[in-house]
Amino acid sequence: MAMVEWSNAYSVDIQEIDEQHKCLIDIMNDLYTALVNNSNRDLIGDVLDKLVDYTKVHFSVEETLMRIFEYDGYEAHKEKHDRIVAKVLTYQGQFRGGNDKVGMELLLFLKDWLFNHINTVDKAYTKTFHKAGVKKRWLKKFW
Ligand SMILES: [Fe+2]
Repeated sequence: MAMVEWSNAYSVDIQEIDEQHKCLIDIMNDLYTALVNNSNRDLIGDVLDKLVDYTKVHFSVEETLMRIFEYDGYEAHKEKHDRIVAKVLTYQGQFRGGNDKVGMELLLFLKDWLFNHINTVDKAYTKTFHKAGVKKRWLKKFW
């Protein structure tokens, strides 16, 4: 059962970034499945690490594009990403320290945050990216 569902309403109209957001959702659902199935701690820890890593990778991609295309909302957007990463790293540290409950807390936190962030903060860069030549559709899946 999926906890988080993608909808086209969340599209930023740049397929590469949409696919990354979907990938983030897939990992969130993997974590949810691992948690509700009471999977062993190592497995939950692995999925949680994957979620943290992919979140960082995805933010780096967005931030790089913003800098390349001289997006004027860069500083404010980056600040938001930094705050999320700090929070997520705190959850990860607590889990590693033995707190089993933080897996679900992290998931709920990211779920609430993700869609709100896509719809308000991410969609704001679309116009700048399109103007700079970023394609709406990607060429092919390569990762
Ligand atoms: Fe973002």
